[in-house]
Amino acid sequence: MIFSVLLLQLLLVSGARAEPPFNNPHGVDIWCGKAYRATDPSFDPGGEIVPPVPWDNLPKLGLLVTPRHTIYLSTETTGYLLFSTLVSTLRGQLFKNETWYRDDPSTKRPFTELSIMIRERSTNKVLVREGSVWIPVNVTDYEVPINLNLLNPSRSDIFLDVIANSPDGIQTYQGGTRFAYLPERNDTGSVARVDSLYGGLEVKSSLLTKGLWKSIFPYSFYVRWDWASETLYNDSSPTNISTFHSLGYNLIHPVPPGGFDSFNATILEKMLSVCDELELYVMYDMRATYQNHDSITAQLARLQQHPSLLLYYTADEPDGWCDPLNATALAYKHIKSIDPYHPVSLVLNCANFYFEDYTAGADIILEDTYPIAVNTSFSTVYHTPCNSTYGDCGCDNCHVGDVQYPDDYTTNRFLDLIVRTDNMYQYQDWQRNRRMKKPVWGVPQAFWDNGSFWDRWPTAAEETVQGVLRINHGAKGIVAWLYPTSPEIEMATSSLATLLTSPDATKFTLGSKRIPLYVVGGGDGLVDAAAWVRDGEMLISIVYMGYESYPGRVAVRLPKLPKLDVDTLFGVKGWWTEGREWLFKDALDALEVTIVKMKVA
Ligand SMILES: *[C@@H]1O[C@H](CO)[C@@H](O)[C@H](O)[C@H]1NC(C)=O
Ligand SMILES: *[C@@H]1O[C@H](CO)[C@@H](O)[C@H](O)[C@H]1NC(C)=O
Ligand SMILES: *[C@@H]1O[C@H](CO)[C@@H](O)[C@H](O)[C@H]1NC(C)=O
Ligand SMILES: *[C@@H]1O[C@H](CO)[C@@H](O)[C@H](O)[C@H]1NC(C)=O
Ligand SMILES: *[C@@H]1O[C@H](CO)[C@@H](O)[C@H](O)[C@H]1NC(C)=O
Ligand SMILES: *[C@@H]1O[C@H](CO)[C@@H](O)[C@H](O)[C@H]1NC(C)=O
Ligand SMILES: *[C@@H]1O[C@H](CO)[C@@H](O)[C@H](O)[C@H]1NC(C)=O
Ligand SMILES: *[C@@H]1O[C@H](CO)[C@@H](O)[C@H](O)[C@H]1NC(C)=O
Ligand SMILES: *[C@@H]1O[C@H](CO)[C@@H](O)[C@H](O)[C@H]1NC(C)=O
Ligand SMILES: *[C@@H]1O[C@H](CO)[C@@H](O)[C@H](O)[C@H]1NC(C)=O
Repeated sequence: MIFSVLLLQLLLVSGARAEPPFNNPHGVDIWCGKAYRATDPSFDPGGEIVPPVPWDNLPKLGLLVTPRHTIYLSTETTGYLLFSTLVSTLRGQLFKNETWYRDDPSTKRPFTELSIMIRERSTNKVLVREGSVWIPVNVTDYEVPINLNLLNPSRSDIFLDVIANSPDGIQTYQGGTRFAYLPERNDTGSVARVDSLYGGLEVKSSLLTKGLWKSIFPYSFYVRWDWASETLYNDSSPTNISTFHSLGYNLIHPVPPGGFDSFNATILEKMLSVCDELELYVMYDMRATYQNHDSITAQLARLQQHPSLLLYYTADEPDGWCDPLNATALAYKHIKSIDPYHPVSLVLNCANFYFEDYTAGADIILEDTYPIAVNTSFSTVYHTPCNSTYGDCGCDNCHVGDVQYPDDYTTNRFLDLIVRTDNMYQYQDWQRNRRMKKPVWGVPQAFWDNGSFWDRWPTAAEETVQGVLRINHGAKGIVAWLYPTSPEIEMATSSLATLLTSPDATKFTLGSKRIPLYVVGGGDGLVDAAAWVRDGEMLISIVYMGYESYPGRVAVRLPKLPKLDVDTLFGVKGWWTEGREWLFKDALDALEVTIVKMKVA
């Protein structure tokens, strides 16, 4: 009602920090919590995550423990935990940089290492004895192996308690983690897990991977069900799931037509069998049914034997629709109770709306930011302004082309993508319930609906930039919306997918930490670059975000001294080194993207 909106505005104006009602005022249509029809006034949607503020200035040690992989199997004998022991004023228990060692109690020393003890909660069995393993203070991703033979495999999570002590035993920090140690499968179905160290996905099945873990970097599309289902039954169709796979895409994400039962079971079974044969992995979408647990149960039963099942996808833009805040977490719990062997994903559409609540129901977070050929300050569909409290412009809180943000968003038309991808990781650090970061995947814009927020199809070059730029900022999978797409987007994504899904690339992107690179000169601030270093080699990805060609010289500083050869895996040749720590190129084409491999000295 108008009354509640007025009341709300009064409360906000008078400075009271009242949380607005979660759902929309009666009769007001909202997206990302914002009113978007010209007939409704704006109000604060709330739900924004903000950086934590320290209570005091005392140093604290925040102990965080997580399994490196989301799943270990009974056939494995070693598991790994990742420790984070960051010291800051923000989180954790008080930290004093002073301790002593038992052999020399009278000498005060800096507190630089912790002795850890790990125990399984239900049996009280000790996995790591006090004094046997030491971890440094103020590090992240410190890996500690544990002997899985000491645990009993179980379909439900085990809980590990961790105590970390200063050498003198005076300062004590407690932590713990759920730990999935599952019975090995005895059917043809697959197991998939997230590697929390590098963010990649690993899959294993008796049929498709011969029982070995295989790293998967998805580079693909959401796929229209009418296309997929029709071509399955039409031998004269020039395109089908096999031709899709041979373009280089390693995953298929069919979009369900809707209804309680979602996909037609007969057709789905046929599609899954084709996927099993092709080793084309399936991202199984339950957007229309994820809040109905009986439907989830029925759907999951049909999938279990299929080795091509890779992961689940529950909510499609729950933050946009303003689904109940607990809906994704409840679905997650229900899915895990039936099938603990596969990760769960979902996509967020809003820039910053109840992030923590919605992502509580996911192992993998997707973002679908569509900044190409869109007006972000005035809605071409609803004819209202768009800002942080009002309107729907198709790209929430995006600023591309917005003259109110002249410095960046008018020259760099891809800044919204960078900011969104970075934020999806940053917000995870800001959460009240801090936990190890979940991987973020990107959904590039690869569609055009006439009459929607977007004026045209993205070009091939824009499509390439949208994908690779996200990878430069930590995306661990690319699933564009929507296939069938334009012929030129298909061509561009096909060659990228072929490279980025291959072990040549995943060896780096899923097997080492990403290193953001510093562009020393040239490119008008529009060159974005990242590197991955492994086994004496370096993969470097360089994206030029300018729509005009750049005539000058560009220099990118490398994290390791290169040897002279530059092997161009994708894009334009012409990058060279001079035996120093820089990579050079003279002149860039508009939206030029290059991926090179180099040996390091
Ligand atoms: C503790 O003190 C040592 C010695 O001054 C210093 O190197 C170290 O960085 C300090 N650690 C923290 C977390 O403050
Ligand atoms: C702790 O580590 C963080 C992140 O690496 C660093 O920024 C900070 O300076 C370190 N603190 C101390 C006291 O060494
Ligand atoms: C296969 O595994 C399932 C689930 O762990 C179990 O219930 C079933 O008894 C096993 N079947 C065989 C033949 O071992
Ligand atoms: C099969 O595909 C061909 C080529 O796209 C099309 O002309 C034909 O109408 C399709 N047949 C059916 C039954 O949909
Ligand atoms: C896809 O079409 C090709 C020919 O265009 C055919 O050889 C192949 O069997 C078809 N695959 C499927 C899964 O229908
Ligand atoms: C599912 O598809 C099959 C094959 O096209 C069709 O025969 C069947 O009627 C469909 N089932 C439902 C419930 O629509
Ligand atoms: C989920 O949230 C809704 C309110 O949106 C509430 O009615 C319901 O009881 C909650 N369910 C559970 C299981 O907490
Ligand atoms: C957003 O736009 C609406 C409509 O013009 C306006 O009432 C509101 O004050 C604006 N919000 C902000 C934060 O500027
Ligand atoms: C967005 O639309 C408004 C109203 O039509 C127009 O004034 C503005 O220039 C447009 N902005 C962009 C970046 O196209
Ligand atoms: C888009 O829709 C408008 C209005 O319906 C129409 O005039 C125009 O021709 C359409 N453009 C394309 C490319 O279909």
